[in-house]
Amino acid sequence: MTGIRLSLALEGGLALPASARIAVFAPTDSSDLSPLPADMCHIITTDKPARDHFAALGYTCNTAPEGRYGAALVCLPRAKDLARALIAQAADVTDGPVIVDGLKTDGIESALKACRARATCEGPVNKAHGKLFWMNPAPEFSDWRQGPPQEIGDGFVTAPGVFSADGIDPASRALADALPEKLGAHVIDLGAGWGYLARRALERDAIRQIDLIEADHTALSCARLNVTDARAQLYWEDALRWRPDTAADTVLMNPPFHTGRKADPALGRAFIAAAAEMLKPSGQLWMVANRHLAYERALAEHFAEVAEAPGGDTRFKLLHARRPLRKKR
Ligand SMILES: C[S@@+](CC[C@H](N)C(=O)[O-])C[C@H]1O[C@@H](n2cnc3c(N)ncnc32)[C@H](O)[C@@H]1O
Repeated sequence: MTGIRLSLALEGGLALPASARIAVFAPTDSSDLSPLPADMCHIITTDKPARDHFAALGYTCNTAPEGRYGAALVCLPRAKDLARALIAQAADVTDGPVIVDGLKTDGIESALKACRARATCEGPVNKAHGKLFWMNPAPEFSDWRQGPPQEIGDGFVTAPGVFSADGIDPASRALADALPEKLGAHVIDLGAGWGYLARRALERDAIRQIDLIEADHTALSCARLNVTDARAQLYWEDALRWRPDTAADTVLMNPPFHTGRKADPALGRAFIAAAAEMLKPSGQLWMVANRHLAYERALAEHFAEVAEAPGGDTRFKLLHARRPLRKKR
């Protein structure tokens, strides 16, 4: 719906520079950027699936701005600190309009209110449950800039917008506490976030290699600081596409369970299918999930043995699956 709002804004007075680059911050793979000239757009995203999507469409992509831009579009993420940091970053590198687009459910109205307190905001275009406004010029938002990774205790650092940025997720902690001593020599932490599960798993001397697979570049940068053990290999990858060179003994995961604001077990089910393909025939999967999310059928489709393990509570359950089933050709 970004596309509809952009088109209306361009018809209604938003002027883009004729031949300068346009920075597009944090679009999702459903963001329609067609009203913008694709060859002038520079996609700035820390999300690997979004990067892969836009790269496949021929866009230039990076995880951070490079040089200066004639305009910027910020596709507002739901996390408020991250949203503010992106607006500040856009203002820092842009000589023309800074456009902000987002859904009401992602906080666009409060972003507009906060920007209006500091700058003249043009528009807004109200359409399709969202708003788009722009500032030209945008002021400095120095107090909104993203600071360095923050310490949250136990020697862990996180950054705004990453999963469980304020502290260890109780479900992940329960999973780490319940893991058996024997996980095998090769472990994969799928959707590793800022590295909590991997660091706890590495308490076992028998692990020779642990692969941390994470789509969010910012979370992975935190994991690099949190998991410095030489046995850890970190990959900025889409868990649904990445596969290890050699099959693993164990996959650990607290899979993502949201698409936007809605709980959506489809992504978790896709993680289960991907995990099964990463494991040896004798391999095992340990996962934690919100109790109301039905993953058991997906587990039974991909593993010969599935059981709930002790250690869960009314909010979440620990699931253990063994012996991945190979798909018949
Ligand atoms: C519920 S969090 C768990 C994070 C971490 N394992 C923990 O326990 O604290 C799920 C993680 O999966 C990541 N993620 C989401 N989609 C992904 C994908 N397609 N590939 C890899 N990671 C993904 C998210 O960025 C997030 O860090």
